Amino acid sequence: MEPSTDIQVRLMADDDVEPVMAIERSAYEHPWTLGIIEDCLRVGYSCWVLTVDDQVAGYGILATAAGEAHLMNLCIDPDRQGQGLGRRLLKRMVDVARLYQARTLFLEVRPSNVAAITLYQSHGFAIIGRRPDYYPAVSGKREDAVVMSSRLTATEQAPEEIAAST
Ligand SMILES: CC(C)(COP(=O)(O)OP(=O)(O)OC[C@H]1O[C@@H](n2cnc3c(N)ncnc32)[C@H](O)[C@@H]1OP(=O)(O)O)[C@@H](O)C(=O)NCCC(=O)NCCS
Repeated sequence: MEPSTDIQVRLMADDDVEPVMAIERSAYEHPWTLGIIEDCLRVGYSCWVLTVDDQVAGYGILATAAGEAHLMNLCIDPDRQGQGLGRRLLKRMVDVARLYQARTLFLEVRPSNVAAITLYQSHGFAIIGRRPDYYPAVSGKREDAVVMSSRLTATEQAPEEIAAST
């Protein structure tokens, strides 16, 4: 019999920064620095990790203000991509944005990032625009960002229900 896998989504703690940075460096060509991740925690962004059998396998970072939320980062360990974890974490981030009473959730994504765009579209996000030269790219050139958004309906779920719904 296959041993069961324990998948959790919980708030990011200081001790998670090291494994989060290891994933960030392996998943992106232009990763965030340690300072950026630490700042996200320090300024009180909503920072979450997804764990598989207590090991950090992904993370999501959300900023919320004035009825809007912004998904700053959503990342799954490359060794664990394609197993439904990104979808699961995105669902949680959307639930958290709802909990903060956000009516719209925005994000930027590279036009070349087909996996992420497909995931976001399948979760109800629509492309609403483009930010020219937003991202650094190889060979010193810059790459546009596609801006996507999703309208959120209000949640009547209590925080503990959302926490239990992963
Ligand atoms: C984007 C990312 C979070 C997706 O996570 P994942 O765990 O691999 O995705 P899942 O297994 O949950 O797949 C969910 C959906 O994403 C889409 N998807 C995932 N990988 C894909 C690929 N290689 N090509 C096309 N679509 C893909 C599919 O719609 C998939 O649904 P399906 O399995 O029903 O077809 C992950 O690839 C990642 O961390 N990438 C690096 C970081 C990054 O680019 N983050 C986004 C920044 S905006």
